[in-house]
Amino acid sequence: MTARIAIVTTVDLAEPDADELLLLPHLPEAELVAWDNPDVDWSTYEVAILRSTWNYTERLDDFLAWASKVSGLTRLVNPLETIVWNTDKRYLDDLAARGIPVVPTAFVAPGETADALAGSVVVKPSVGAGSAGAALFHDDPEAAAAHLASLHADGRVAMIQPYLAQVDEAGETALIYLGGRFSHAARKAAILSADMTNSTGLYADEKITRCEPTEAERALADRVVATLPEGLAYARVDLLPTDDGPVVLELELTEPSLFLGMDDAAPARAAREFRALLG
Ligand SMILES: Nc1ncnc2c1ncn2[C@@H]1O[C@H](COP(=O)(O)OP(=O)(O)O)[C@@H](O)[C@H]1O
Ligand SMILES: [Mg+2]
Repeated sequence: MTARIAIVTTVDLAEPDADELLLLPHLPEAELVAWDNPDVDWSTYEVAILRSTWNYTERLDDFLAWASKVSGLTRLVNPLETIVWNTDKRYLDDLAARGIPVVPTAFVAPGETADALAGSVVVKPSVGAGSAGAALFHDDPEAAAAHLASLHADGRVAMIQPYLAQVDEAGETALIYLGGRFSHAARKAAILSADMTNSTGLYADEKITRCEPTEAERALADRVVATLPEGLAYARVDLLPTDDGPVVLELELTEPSLFLGMDDAAPARAAREFRALLG
């Protein structure tokens, strides 16, 4: 049988990721296909579902050109407009304009200067994933400015945020939605705190555990999803705690890990949602 669903990965990954290993046994209609393999005929698939395309952050223009082409040949999931909007964290400004509490963020493009580098700040690229290019500075505006300059030298728009230190104790909460409905949640331990940035990288591995979101977290993530196009096949809302309640750190609609291993029922649930995309 020829596969009807492309689960989209990259040639840079030798092995399926954890989600794909859990998902594929439930989805015999699907096979792994690399977005950056030029030999693929995308029109042979009814649906192409973006999953582990993690290297897109280094080649955003190529990736969006590919997504635009492929969305004319098959059904791209999530849809092209959603991907175009979501691959640059400047979407946080749009969420804020919709009344959603987000981590206070200054976007600083190459050629612009930053005026808020004192205290504990995070400097990171506005197009990024997997914490690449993200760094934390405590009362070191010079080092923060140097990191900002290095992002700018790479041609990247930078983001400056206060470090929301409650993450050190409480972690970050990721709420996963499948087909527009809440599925499950996971907690991710802090990544940038001093111990880790000083490490050799051994601690950069994400520590993920299952969690039940608080009522406030669930309510906020529901509000975020309610502002999106209806019924997106997958969405992940990442929240950080503050004294005033949770705020949005990230909204992942492009290629989020879905942490399917955190809920026994999630792999079959995801497979059902993905199969439902077939005509
Ligand atoms: N403002 C912040 N306060 C606290 N921790 C942060 C902040 N920004 C980023 N982090 C930490 O850095 C990690 C990566 O940042 P994030 O914005 O999620 O980008 P990415 O797209 O690389 O996942 C987060 O998971 C979190 O642990
Ligand atoms: Mg993140």
